Amino acid sequence: MPAFERHVFVCHNVRPAEAPRPSCSGDGKSELHARLNQLAKDAGLGGRVRINKSGCLDQCEHGPMMVVYPEAVWYANVNAADAEEIVREHLVGGRPVERLRISDACLNAKDCPHRS
Ligand code: FES
Repeated sequence: MPAFERHVFVCHNVRPAEAPRPSCSGDGKSELHARLNQLAKDAGLGGRVRINKSGCLDQCEHGPMMVVYPEAVWYANVNAADAEEIVREHLVGGRPVERLRISDACLNAKDCPHRS
């Protein structure tokens, strides 16, 4: 079996309401993951793109978060309604969805103004 062309990680972390940082999957469900998975399969990407639920990606204040490798394209505030555009444009077309990308000033930045 050839290696995957892309690997997608969708944060599925759940924290209690009183936690100091927010979580990407407040209700423990991942409609985004399910929708991406189904649309990728429908697009014929089943053996070429792997879409996994992940633990916390440490970008919690911008969630729901997901990241696409090998390009390391990070998407912030993503929801299930965005899945079709991500699959069509990025996973099939190879064009990242710019409107959903987290800004460089916020990705992995301890001094991000949004960070708790
Ligand atoms: S809980 Fe999703 S990035 Fe931290």
